[in-house]
Amino acid sequence: MTSAIRTFGNRPCALTVCRGCCCGDVRKHPGTDHAGQLARLREAAARSGGRLAVRTSDCLGPCGQANVVVVQPSTEGRRRGGRAAWVGWALDDDSTDEILAWVAAGGPGIAKPPATLELQFFPAPVESRTAKKR
Ligand code: FES
Repeated sequence: MTSAIRTFGNRPCALTVCRGCCCGDVRKHPGTDHAGQLARLREAAARSGGRLAVRTSDCLGPCGQANVVVVQPSTEGRRRGGRAAWVGWALDDDSTDEILAWVAAGGPGIAKPPATLELQFFPAPVESRTAKKR
């Protein structure tokens, strides 16, 4: 579900928030306010004036890194070389704060991610499979 208005021909930075079998599951990660995290991200999108979109997805695959959030660049960010960043272990308020700070600054291709958030990046599952075949 997308909770922000898209600007035609100029897609905003977008967060894909995994909410499959493990991400967002209180039995797997009981110490995390999963609903609160998603609410904060959606509120930020609603306040962004169309510069941020948030959607949820079913399992993206790398359940061992739950909660997974994929930060996708805006059209401008992609034009400047930004690529999707897969963030794993997004279980605490610090992770959510840093994701929101990064996308508020422009996200991939526009702004450098917070150094501590960068430590949570991992290769996209397709890239991992491709790298293993080499
Ligand atoms: S449930 Fe999120 S990666 Fe599987």
